[in-house]
Amino acid sequence: MNQAIEWNEKYETNIETIDQQHKNLFRIINNLFDAVRNHKNRSELTPIARELLEYTEYHFSYEEKHFHLFSFSKTAEHEVDHRLFTQKVKEFSDEIAQDKLSSAMPMLDFLINWLVDHIILKDKRYVPLFLQKKQEIEAK
Ligand SMILES: [Fe+2]
Repeated sequence: MNQAIEWNEKYETNIETIDQQHKNLFRIINNLFDAVRNHKNRSELTPIARELLEYTEYHFSYEEKHFHLFSFSKTAEHEVDHRLFTQKVKEFSDEIAQDKLSSAMPMLDFLINWLVDHIILKDKRYVPLFLQKKQEIEAK
């Protein structure tokens, strides 16, 4: 589909930290999308790909920390999903590092589709529990 990822209210969880982190992920992915579309070279793509990997790991560990804290019933399967996406971001980053830029757009397309599906179908499952434990959610 080769489209940038646009924030939409259907992605909102109403958990402030989570929505902020998801918006940050969208921002980094869009930076990458623009860079790839504008045929930027490896040295320009590499730091953005690294930022995406680091922020993905930060965000997933934030979610997972709260899954354990709140004994979320779908923790195991959700963590499997997170590992898959992290692996794909690593592959993406490796391809860029090896200057295989022709695969960048299809991979980015995969990451975008995965992320929106994950937010809508999987993240939404923890929302009632997180809202119920609102006072215990860490502020960053
Ligand atoms: Fe998640």
